[in-house]
Amino acid sequence: MKKDGKKKSKTRRDTRIASAGLDPHGNGGIINPPVYHTSTVLFPTVKDLKRAVDDPFNNIYYGRFGTPTSIAFEEAVAEIEGGEKAIATSSGLAAITCALTAFLKSGDHLLVADTVYEPTRKFCDGLLRGFEVETEYYDPLIGGAIAALMRDTTRVVFMESPGSLTFEVQDVPAIAAAAKERGVVSILDNTWGTPLFFRPFEHGVDIAIEAATKYISGHADAMLGVIITNEPHFKRLKTVTVALGNSVGPDDCYLGLRGLRTLAVRMPRHQETGLTLARWLADRAEVARVLHPALPSDPGHELWKRDFTGSSGLFSVELHPVAREKVVAMLDGFELFSMGFSWGGFESLILPMEPHYSRSATSWEGKGPLLRIHAGLEDPADLVDDLEAGLKRLG
Ligand SMILES: Cc1ncc(COP(=O)(O)O)c(C=O)c1O
Repeated sequence: MKKDGKKKSKTRRDTRIASAGLDPHGNGGIINPPVYHTSTVLFPTVKDLKRAVDDPFNNIYYGRFGTPTSIAFEEAVAEIEGGEKAIATSSGLAAITCALTAFLKSGDHLLVADTVYEPTRKFCDGLLRGFEVETEYYDPLIGGAIAALMRDTTRVVFMESPGSLTFEVQDVPAIAAAAKERGVVSILDNTWGTPLFFRPFEHGVDIAIEAATKYISGHADAMLGVIITNEPHFKRLKTVTVALGNSVGPDDCYLGLRGLRTLAVRMPRHQETGLTLARWLADRAEVARVLHPALPSDPGHELWKRDFTGSSGLFSVELHPVAREKVVAMLDGFELFSMGFSWGGFESLILPMEPHYSRSATSWEGKGPLLRIHAGLEDPADLVDDLEAGLKRLG
């Protein structure tokens, strides 16, 4: 928080979360930034107009470039994620597509983890392919051996760890180091880890993505993304993000900033409840395996322990093969677990998933139905009761 124009130095993480991006004394002492709804920004003189036009990165210039509300959100996320700069986007997917577009052109080669969020894959296989960018998917367990896949034309390596739906943990430091050595830009979708549980820049990543729609907003009421980076990549990212027409609603920025304030309180609860459910499910006869990197039985556990400081509430469970109508009865009958996309809010969710369709460098070998679970903020004992009743419906 700025006081007399100064930032407090060397405070601990939770203190910074409580104050990052705030400037109450620049705003009549009001603690939160106002929600500015605007397209037009007025300039009193030609000199002021020229100054803004000449340096749109450092001046409030036009609604699409940012407002004090979006800037407060960006400053806060950059500080908490550990980067120098952040750019808010209209969704998590927009953060991904803007970041990729910023560093790729026709003829380039792009390396993408096979287990990325499916719409990321669709963007690569659709729009980027149309623009003659070649995407090569890599096994998320490849580690430093990714160097062998890098060509003269490789410009970007895109990671997401753990992977969507199946939660493979990547050796992010090894992949980022291999990229750095060859001048390849490394991008990480850090939505699962959040800035609390994985520190992208300390692990060598150039650009981090947060789908702030999830845990940062935390209440299932905003669509918001953010690209976090350091100075060398900032101007290019901002220029492309603006050029693509990205603009963030001020109310969503406000919700993102408000959600961020309680991130450090909510995440341990998501973690604890997630682990309670995962451990309980792992002991059930109906369950073939639980895919959760914080369980010692998980293949990614050692890497997770080395690089992460916690786990979020999202994981998957593979059931033993069972008739489809039984799974439908299980899912339809839940009282607390709802079916719906997204995650990271206060509510518990469950969704049937089919990773077969979104893998090409690897294959999903699961034999039974795969369910993705998000552990919300309800009482874990009630959630266990709901799961127990659901498993009974499997017969
Ligand atoms: C890992 C991951 N990244 C990015 C996104 C995209 O976020 P948004 O829905 O805000 O576009 C999602 C959405 O589910 C996600 O799961």
